Amino acid sequence: MSEIDPKAYQERLDRMSQILGDIVQHADQQALVRCPYKNKDNDCTAKFGCKFQRKPAPDRAFFQCSSDDKLDYRSAWDMEPQAYEEMQDKIRSQKKDRPQKGSGTITHQGEKQTLKSRQTIFDYADALKAEVPTSCFRSGICHECIVEVRKGMDALCPRTEAESFLKDDYRLACQAEVVDIDAHIEFAPLRRKPKILTLGREKETAFDPYVVRDGDRVFYEGEEVDRFRGHVYGLAIDVGTTTVVMDLVDLETGQSVAVRSFENPQRFGGSDIMYRISYDRDHPNELWKTLVNAINAEILSLGELLGFVRQEIYEIVVAGNATMRDLLFRLDVQGIGQKPYKSTIEDEYLAGERETTGIYQSSRRVGIRVNPKAKVYGVPIIASHVGGDVAADLAALDMGRQDEIVMVVDVGTNTEVVLGNKDRLMTASCPAGPAFEGGGIKFGMPGYDGAI
Ligand code: SF4
Ligand code: FES
Repeated sequence: MSEIDPKAYQERLDRMSQILGDIVQHADQQALVRCPYKNKDNDCTAKFGCKFQRKPAPDRAFFQCSSDDKLDYRSAWDMEPQAYEEMQDKIRSQKKDRPQKGSGTITHQGEKQTLKSRQTIFDYADALKAEVPTSCFRSGICHECIVEVRKGMDALCPRTEAESFLKDDYRLACQAEVVDIDAHIEFAPLRRKPKILTLGREKETAFDPYVVRDGDRVFYEGEEVDRFRGHVYGLAIDVGTTTVVMDLVDLETGQSVAVRSFENPQRFGGSDIMYRISYDRDHPNELWKTLVNAINAEILSLGELLGFVRQEIYEIVVAGNATMRDLLFRLDVQGIGQKPYKSTIEDEYLAGERETTGIYQSSRRVGIRVNPKAKVYGVPIIASHVGGDVAADLAALDMGRQDEIVMVVDVGTNTEVVLGNKDRLMTASCPAGPAFEGGGIKFGMPGYDGAI
């Protein structure tokens, strides 16, 4: 056996010590932020209930962990069994403090539950079978679970950081824990489904879509965009301040396949346009994100119901007042809120920088999850607050060819009036408030489930 070189031996020893030292240091850092029950894939392996557990992803065996890693986990990593037990209790107690029953109630659409400690509004919504949207397993990330707290706001815990974009009586259902269990609380999710008029007088129109199928290929204005997957669909969206309506249209036949309507979930940013504009200044993109999430959720649910995939939607047309349309297109809307009430698009049009006040953008840019090659067309606005919804009214009524004087009144949260005939058309708009669509009313309710 060769003789040991003391110098080389010491070098190896130092190297080993350094590696082990690094491991210990890394473990120390990890112990500060990493729960010992998380496996290498960040799934939760705990066999007890923890409030951070979220249901397993479809192809996984373990719960997902939604912890924000703010708990100091060091004692759970100790070799002392006692410390391990203590930590286990600490994590367990986050969920398992025996819930106390109170004398208060929580109500949703007339259905009641008795209050218990350590429950969020989302827990009660589950028990009351209230549909509250989510795509983040209730971790405060998606901002979809906004609810309006109509009574008992003081009975809830203070707003969490995830709710810093909310004001007034709006909370995230997954964050709002009931702390006063003797209070009486009433809540309503945003994005309720109003019953709207879906049938009207059909009008013969020339049918000439940009998207066509040729054999097993789909073309958009002559450019091949996809293989034929079974359907060629388009989507028409009317974005109102209070109500959003979506019409899924078969672009091969021109027939409507399904109509969906839901309350515009941007209500937490104020019930009328001016409030929404100032809200968007203070919290950029929150309103856009909320609406796009709602539209995407409806597309997904329509696909599940009717058996198609979102990639089979190749074109989207959006009509709405100038603010609603431009918020969806992620444009700066501040100009519409102050004199002379012009949108950036209208300014550019008046300066001769664009030929139309209509907008074309890719669905990716807008954030709507359909075919990646799909385009979103925003119907041209007329002027100031008179937007694309009125342009759509005029096109539907063929106002540009009327001999008689005709008056059109589009009653909504923002109401527009157009008067004239083929020679001259005049228009005006005014904020009428959300009451016409059932918003902001003290007595009665709009045509939502539970009205009858
Ligand atoms: S924090 Fe809770 S959910 Fe996350 S891994 Fe640990 S025990 Fe599981
Ligand atoms: S469920 Fe996603 S924020 Fe509440």
